[in-house]
Amino acid sequence: MTVTPIGGFAGWLWLDASRGNAGQLSFSTPLRIPPLLAPAPGSSRTAKQFRLNLQEGVSELIPGRRTPTWGANGNYLGPTIRVNRGDRVQVHVTNRLRQTTTMHWHGMHLPAQMDGGPHQPIASGRTWSPQWTIEQPATTLWYHPHLHSVTAEHVYRGIAGLFLIDDGDTRLPHTYGVDDVPLIIQDKNFNDDGSLSTDGIRFGGINVTGLLGDRILINGTYDPYFKVTTTLARFRMLNGSNARVYHVGFADGRSFQLVGTDGGLLPAPLPLKRLMLSPGERAEIVVAFRPGEKAVLRSFAPDLQSNFLYEQLAGGNDEMDLLAFVAAPRLRPSPPLPSTLATVPAIQPAANAAVTRIVMGDFTFNDKTMDMKRVDHVATANTVGVWEVKNDQDIPHNFHIHGVTFHVLDLDRRTPPPHMRGNKDTVIVPPGSTVRLGVRYLRYSDPIRPYMFHCHILAHEDAGMMGQFLTVSPADRVRVPRSLSHDH
Ligand code: C2O
Ligand code: CU
Ligand code: CU
Repeated sequence: MTVTPIGGFAGWLWLDASRGNAGQLSFSTPLRIPPLLAPAPGSSRTAKQFRLNLQEGVSELIPGRRTPTWGANGNYLGPTIRVNRGDRVQVHVTNRLRQTTTMHWHGMHLPAQMDGGPHQPIASGRTWSPQWTIEQPATTLWYHPHLHSVTAEHVYRGIAGLFLIDDGDTRLPHTYGVDDVPLIIQDKNFNDDGSLSTDGIRFGGINVTGLLGDRILINGTYDPYFKVTTTLARFRMLNGSNARVYHVGFADGRSFQLVGTDGGLLPAPLPLKRLMLSPGERAEIVVAFRPGEKAVLRSFAPDLQSNFLYEQLAGGNDEMDLLAFVAAPRLRPSPPLPSTLATVPAIQPAANAAVTRIVMGDFTFNDKTMDMKRVDHVATANTVGVWEVKNDQDIPHNFHIHGVTFHVLDLDRRTPPPHMRGNKDTVIVPPGSTVRLGVRYLRYSDPIRPYMFHCHILAHEDAGMMGQFLTVSPADRVRVPRSLSHDH
């Protein structure tokens, strides 16, 4: 490690990063694949019915150790929900935990009252059953709790899962668990008794990032390998960690094709060797394999920034193995990767579009922390707006907006790199940088139920780096109250 600790922040991070043994793995455990969630039989004619039961359990995350965990329909993580564009869906979320939580559909285009943010609490023992129509391009979304001030803990204990949208295009590898494989990347710390350590999960004092774990789990698997059986395979990566930024690439330096980002497919595959993934972001990649080979996916120190805190968030100069792909001696030939993938219409704001300015400073937005009763912004439904987000701190943040897809218009006034030009809902904001986002607001109008926007470093979000906006038709603007009530 070449980072020199200076001051309290670095000291804390130094200790955290140096106590682990995450660097090199032996790849001894088959990668777990979250099961696909079948719609409930006897689904009503009006909507596909899904059930998620949130529960406590015990998992063997590290071989030979019993770890109390949370999960949906199981002991750790949740099943993958896979639906088609145009489907009407209803998810019945039953909270069998001993405390209130919520369930948020990250990246979903849906009315605010179905969004599962802090205003839709599910008390212990209760079921919440939002229903909506899937109206967005094929992509990789995810679900996780979002109760204000405890999101970090609820996600860390294990409640998270993928929500995939298909739209009938089958040219990319799409056989779930075979050549279309989820990779939910999370870092954890374990106590000696096997339990998850939540030390540092909350922001405060010298702890500026929240929890950074020294063990990496992929889909809840420590030290994993995946057996590849096709010449091309697609991996849907989700950074489901509380704070850590991954800089993903292959140990042997091979390139892969980026085919999709948070909100859907790119216009064309983009060859890359490395990709940064901050908490909440997703990336779909396609990798080519030769028979019998082994390829190690790794997180590297970021090379975009020299800021040492930034490097620490990505594991410092320690390269961290993520998993190994072990190709079978004979591989089934995959159809060639299409040269064009999707039309991605520009989200181009009008010259006079409203600009929403956010300054991230001192773990606040515009000097304010989250207030459930305050509306920070009122947007006009069915329009395109601009958000200008400036990180005034010397640590990285990221920025997520609920219920929209956005495009990164520019990063520090320059055209963003190609991997940031697709449909997004979460974007990294490096220290000192400014991103401008073109945001397409949905057509739903709701004058009393807000969507959230926040830093997706969960300790920051919990500490109040979050705000609320309403999406309202011009006619409904008169109904916006002065102060929002807590629950709806
Ligand atoms: Cu991943 Cu406010 O959400
Ligand atoms: Cu979200
Ligand atoms: Cu942050």
